Amino acid sequence: MINFYLVINYLKHLKNAKTLHGVHSPFVYQLIEKVFYNFGSHTDYAEIENLRHQLFKNTNYITISDLGAGSHINNNRRKQIKQLAQNALKPPKLAQLIYRLVKQNQPNTVIELGTCLGLTTAYMSRAAPLASIISMEGCPQTAAIAQQNLQLLQANNVSIKVGDFGHNLPAIIAENAVIDFVFIDGNHQEKATIDYFNILLPHVHKNTLLVFDDIYWSRGMQNAWKHIKQHPQVTLTIDLFWIGLVFFKAERCKENFKIRF
Ligand SMILES: C[S@@+](CC[C@H](N)C(=O)[O-])C[C@H]1O[C@@H](n2cnc3c(N)ncnc32)[C@H](O)[C@@H]1O
Repeated sequence: MINFYLVINYLKHLKNAKTLHGVHSPFVYQLIEKVFYNFGSHTDYAEIENLRHQLFKNTNYITISDLGAGSHINNNRRKQIKQLAQNALKPPKLAQLIYRLVKQNQPNTVIELGTCLGLTTAYMSRAAPLASIISMEGCPQTAAIAQQNLQLLQANNVSIKVGDFGHNLPAIIAENAVIDFVFIDGNHQEKATIDYFNILLPHVHKNTLLVFDDIYWSRGMQNAWKHIKQHPQVTLTIDLFWIGLVFFKAERCKENFKIRF
């Protein structure tokens, strides 16, 4: 089904978003040039994309328990793994951008909300092999497949926590005084997204990067994104339409960018 909300907002984004030209902030300019638009191939990508193609052919069924925004449609539905691989994973272009962002940030601690089949998790693992990566997933059968995938890809620095984000995130945060990189890619609802942001806030520092997925998926997600942008602790946001980046660099005056990706 076409999400008209998303389409209309995408057209608006294309009209207003900048490329390299017209960006005067040296930090953002460098990020666009060296990270966003660095579309070359990388040896780290090939093995993960090879596994994605195998998952596209996997006709085995699993039972989905979806604790997120789509729960009324998907709960306890049996789905083929290939359907999940086609519909729920970040496409290569975005997963590889997450890889480059992690590589650039060189975090010690990474949290992902929404493991799904673990491919973007694997990208993050390759980008920061020495980091501790905690990925959270609510569906036990999906998490079990992700675990197998991560083993195949030798992503040994990842631990998957199965359960509701609302329950597991505060517990994980309590064990990690500071958080360097977070990818929030599940339960795309306004209140939940703002709640996760508020839970993370006391643990961010000047080099923390929070990445919110699907910021235009619905009016609620757009409201959540507006709320996050306006927060006084946030000094820089970059809206790439598909994802929104949130920085806390203390020395900056507040700026919000919209960039084409
Ligand atoms: C869009 S998928 C994640 C895709 C993955 N990050 C990737 O890039 O390939 C979102 C995942 O979040 C999980 N999820 C949604 N809401 C959740 C919640 N409240 N608690 C735990 N898991 C949740 C879903 O089961 C689903 O697998």
